[in-house]
Amino acid sequence: MYSQGLIGADGRTEETPEFLAAFQARVDAEQKIEPNDDMPEGYRRTLVRQIGQHAHSEIVGMLPEGNWITRAPSLRRKAALLAKVQDEGGHGLYLYSAAETLGVTRKQMTEELLDGRAKYSSIFNYPTLSWADIGTIGWLVDGAAIMNQIPLCRCSYGPYARAMIRVCKEESFHQRQGYEIVMTLARGTPEQKAMAQDSLNRWWWPSIMMFGPHDADSQHSDQSMAWKIKRFTNDELRQKFIDATVPQAEFLGLTIPDPELKWNEEKGGYDHGPIDWDEFWRVVKGFGPCARDRVAARKKAWDDGEWVREAALAHAEKRRARKLAVAAE
Ligand code: 3HC
Repeated sequence: MYSQGLIGADGRTEETPEFLAAFQARVDAEQKIEPNDDMPEGYRRTLVRQIGQHAHSEIVGMLPEGNWITRAPSLRRKAALLAKVQDEGGHGLYLYSAAETLGVTRKQMTEELLDGRAKYSSIFNYPTLSWADIGTIGWLVDGAAIMNQIPLCRCSYGPYARAMIRVCKEESFHQRQGYEIVMTLARGTPEQKAMAQDSLNRWWWPSIMMFGPHDADSQHSDQSMAWKIKRFTNDELRQKFIDATVPQAEFLGLTIPDPELKWNEEKGGYDHGPIDWDEFWRVVKGFGPCARDRVAARKKAWDDGEWVREAALAHAEKRRARKLAVAAE
């Protein structure tokens, strides 16, 4: 049976070698870790960091697409886009709730996003310049997100794994609706096809970067893999994504903007050209083309919503006081 750790004078679990070994054995046996279980502080912190960043990415990810709701080319496209953007908001909320089970509040996480301490996905710092970008985001960005997130349904932390099951079902619909938009454009007029190609040219490399730095430069991968938070490394997932996406582009008659992309018979996958890591780190460090706008939009939403949070709190307090009064009668 899993042995809970000794509790030290500060109320925290003492991370004795026996406790760490028992925790690792539990992870190795594929038992889910739940909120009330003792866990190493590093495990808890890694999850708060990753789930928090993931939640922020879902919420910030609403902005580039929300930008096109009023300009969708038909009622049908508008309804699908509205639903997709709302789904992303829902994903953010499940993920904030999952992170809250680890003893962090949504307020703390939001403050960290707004003051730049917490990251969100690099991809959402790029602008959506044409309607084709809405298709390409669904196809590539949601496609990359699914590739990364399906393994997270098997993450060792129960609340994160369970939240990801519904998220992945919805992301799958997002990917298909995006691919269908791009297919419509690719089979449309020459101008529409050119718009789809231009969009692919701009989004391909940022999508490839979404998976994070190469394994040799990934600070957290080894430990996250050992704890079964991550099930595949950044490079493994990037390779799976490229291998799945190249035939999709071929089917559309579009060209992936990488002259070095070539099938490698020996490894059974595509080789690709070098990734511009300077661009990636510039964007991650807050200097992406839309970074300032994205954070400003989140800050405005947070400030504008203050009265709602205050009213909800006042209402909850009033109800609690009424319940206590009734109980005391
Ligand atoms: N954008 C921004 N930061 C990134 C990044 C990216 N694409 N890739 C890596 N980083 C950051 C990491 O967060 C880490 O910074 P930190 O130490 O300050 O937290 C640093 O770069 C080093 O990277 P590592 O590889 O060591 O980090 P991880 O082991 O955490 O791996 C990850 C990075 C693969 C993104 C992993 O955190 C992960 O799988 N996260 C969950 C999924 C997620 O957050 N996806 C974001 C997109 S969600 C989305 O796309 C919404 C959908 O609706 C489209």
